[in-house]
Amino acid sequence: MIEESEYVKRREKLAKSLRSNSIAIILSASAKIRSNDTEYPFRQDSNFYYLTGFKEDNAALVIVRAKKAYESYLFVQEKDKEQELWHGKRLGVKRAKKCFHVDALFGSSEFESKIEKFFTKSHYLYYDFKGESKHQDFLQKKAKELLALYDIAPFIERMRLVKSPAEIELIKKALQITKEAHHRAIQKSPALAFEYELQAEIEYAFKKRGAYSDAYTSIVACGNGANTLHYIANDKKLRKDALILIDAGCEYEYYASDITRTIPVSKKFTKAQRELYSLVLDVEKEIISMIKPDILRSKLQSRAEELLCQGLVNLGILKGEAKELLRKKKHKKYYPHGIGHWMGLDVHDACPYKDAAGKEISLQDGMVLTIEPGIYIDKNDTSVPKRYRGIGIRIEDDILVTCSGHENLSADIVKEIKDIEML
Ligand code: GLY
Ligand code: MN
Ligand code: MN
Repeated sequence: MIEESEYVKRREKLAKSLRSNSIAIILSASAKIRSNDTEYPFRQDSNFYYLTGFKEDNAALVIVRAKKAYESYLFVQEKDKEQELWHGKRLGVKRAKKCFHVDALFGSSEFESKIEKFFTKSHYLYYDFKGESKHQDFLQKKAKELLALYDIAPFIERMRLVKSPAEIELIKKALQITKEAHHRAIQKSPALAFEYELQAEIEYAFKKRGAYSDAYTSIVACGNGANTLHYIANDKKLRKDALILIDAGCEYEYYASDITRTIPVSKKFTKAQRELYSLVLDVEKEIISMIKPDILRSKLQSRAEELLCQGLVNLGILKGEAKELLRKKKHKKYYPHGIGHWMGLDVHDACPYKDAAGKEISLQDGMVLTIEPGIYIDKNDTSVPKRYRGIGIRIEDDILVTCSGHENLSADIVKEIKDIEML
């Protein structure tokens, strides 16, 4: 649970980073149509949520910065009996006044008229024009009256890089649930016939424990399906002799988890599967062990590529001298993606990888990232020994950078061969 006092501090920090005589407008997400007149479940915009913790749509946060002082205002949708009958209760302006420590609270219907007034005092506008909003045309038009326009998103996303203790607690909670889901999948897989059945078992575990949603569409890929990196069809039969790659994580109170385990459908790894799996696991563990403050993500990437390339040579999958193959990027065919990404309110947390000067941001205490090496060998790749074809393996954990090094937040989700087989 994140207290209102923490949101107040975030708004204050953002306000202080704005120019004098400016206005910042951060809008909530808008409902999205799924088909005809039915909507997807509403999910708040991550930046808006980071600054308010408010989960309703048709809302806006406005910060008006004078020379030094600033004021913050929140717009929330008004109570409306007819709308609430269909879509559920709204907080409403009166109750919102008690929940949010802002300088003033207004109904959303007042948004454009209030903004007109604030604009007369402002020279600069901070706004996220990527978002979709019914106020887009109005704001585009108004922006032309000002001296300059800035994208607000990078200011917020930089703040989101380092997680607070309360945020880390929520990520840990998400991971507890995700752990149960993955362990359930490992136990259930020998008795199931289709990928989607396994997906259902995982998502049952998410919902059963009160996770709002998955943090991304679960990937449940048996055999060669795992070689499609974002495979989400999840509609194939589970082949008894194959591996299943399960990349699934729940979202808990808006915080993501992102875990991949690769397990045998039946109870045991074959020898070839074991060889490839051990390579990926050893690399994953070594890269995690390197994590500490000041190290660069690119260093983790290059070391992972080096180790995977050497491993592919050792298994006879790549032929030649490892250094030369690495230089020619021959390993990319079997490991085509990044070593990991920031994780938080978004599974691929929308935080920057470079600072304002274009320099890579090093890892610091409080940042959370995934580590996810993999090897993917297409079933039709005749250049590879036959026994390895059609195997895709990824192992992914979620790591907190700490002042003394790191904490693997998903350390108790099994990944050793013997532990998977035993479970
Ligand atoms: N689940 C998507 C990813 O691992 O990045
Ligand atoms: Mn990931
Ligand atoms: Mn993942």
